[in-house]
Amino acid sequence: MSYSSFDLLDISRPILVFGKDGQVGRALQGCLKSFKVPVVFLGRDECDLSEESALTAILNQYQPQIIINAAAYTAVDQAEGEPDLAFAINAKAPQLMAQYVTGVSRGVFVHYSTDYVFADTKQDAYLETDSAGPVDQLCVYGQSKLAGENAIQDVFNLICSSEKLKNTDHFSKYFILRTSWVYGDGSNFIRTMLKLASERDSLRVVADQVGTPSSATWLAEIGVHLATADVASGIYHAVPDGEVSWYGLAIFAIEAAASYGEGLELKPESIQAIPAKDYPSMAARPYNSRMNNQKLKKVLSEMAFTGQYPRWQEQVDCYVQNIVKESLKS
Ligand SMILES: NC(=O)c1ccc[n+]([C@@H]2O[C@H](COP(=O)([O-])OP(=O)(O)OC[C@H]3O[C@@H](n4cnc5c(N)ncnc54)[C@H](OP(=O)(O)O)[C@@H]3O)[C@@H](O)[C@H]2O)c1
Repeated sequence: MSYSSFDLLDISRPILVFGKDGQVGRALQGCLKSFKVPVVFLGRDECDLSEESALTAILNQYQPQIIINAAAYTAVDQAEGEPDLAFAINAKAPQLMAQYVTGVSRGVFVHYSTDYVFADTKQDAYLETDSAGPVDQLCVYGQSKLAGENAIQDVFNLICSSEKLKNTDHFSKYFILRTSWVYGDGSNFIRTMLKLASERDSLRVVADQVGTPSSATWLAEIGVHLATADVASGIYHAVPDGEVSWYGLAIFAIEAAASYGEGLELKPESIQAIPAKDYPSMAARPYNSRMNNQKLKKVLSEMAFTGQYPRWQEQVDCYVQNIVKESLKS
C-alpha cells in the first residue's frame, strides 16, 4: 500500500524540520509554507543538536511523524579542530532522529548528506552502491557525515527488518540525500564569486576539482517529495545533471550575472585556473565529486515529479538572475 500519501498522515503530528536557518532549511520553509500538515521549523536556538538531551526533549514534545534534517556542522575546515562537535551534530543527532522515527508508526526520516563521504577512489561518477571512504582519507567533516549515514542505516536495518516482517503498515522509512556544491539563501561559492567579481579585476579559482552545483530550493522539493511518496528507503544521489569545475562554475556565474546587467570589475578571461594544491586548506576536499543520479531520476520519473530533470546550468542561471534582480533593486 502507498502508506505515505498525505491522506494517511496523522495531521495531529507535525513535520519537524531541523536546520531552518541554513540554505536548505530556508528553502524548506518556502516549500512547506502552505502545507496542510503542521510543520515546525527548528534552528539552533530552539534545539542545539550537539546536546542529546535537548534533541530528545524536542522529539518527545512534538512527536513528529516526519523529520527532515537539514541541519549539519558544515564548517569544513573548522571541523578539523572540532571533531567531537562535528560528530555530535553530524552523526549522533541523526542517529537519535533515526531511532525516534523507527519507533513511530509509518515514520519518515529525510536526511541530507554529502559528496565528502567519497575519497577519490573513482574517476567517474559514484553510484549509491559504491563504498564510501576510506575513512582515513576523508576530512573530519566527511568522516562525521559518513558516520551519520552509517548510524541511520544501522538503526533502520536493526529495527525495521523485524518490524517489516511483523507489520508492513507500520514500517518506517529513511532517505539519505547525498548532494554537492549547494547554493541557496546563504553563503556559498556562487555568491562569493559574484562578490569578488564586483571588487577585483583578477581572481584565481581551482580548476581540478569537479562536481555538480545543486540548488537548495530543488533539494528541499526533492526531500519533501520523497518524504511523502511511495518510494523505498535508501541513499539517493541528489544532484542535477552535468558537471563542472569550480573554475568553470565561476566563469558561468560571472558571465550570467553580466548578461543580466550586473556591472562587474572582473572579466571572465581574467579568472586564472589553478590546481587545488595552490589553494591550500585545512581540510582535504575531493577532486572527484561526481555522483550518478540515475536512481533518483528513476523514482522521480515514476512519480512524475517534474517534466524534465534539471541540468545545473539552468538552475544556476536562474539563481544568478535572481541575485542580480535583487542587487539592481537595492
Ligand atoms: N553547503 C554545501 O555545499 C553542501 C554540500 C553537500 C552537502 N551538504 C549538506 O546539505 C545539508 C544542508 O546544507 P546547507 O548548505 O543548507 O548548510 P548550512 O547553510 O550550513 O546550514 C546548516 C544549518 O545547521 C545548523 N546547525 C549547525 N550546528 C547546529 C547545532 N549544534 N544545533 C542546531 N543547528 C545547527 C546551522 O545553524 P546556524 O544557522 O545557527 O549556524 C545552519 O542553519 C547538510 O546536511 C550538508 O551537510 C551541503
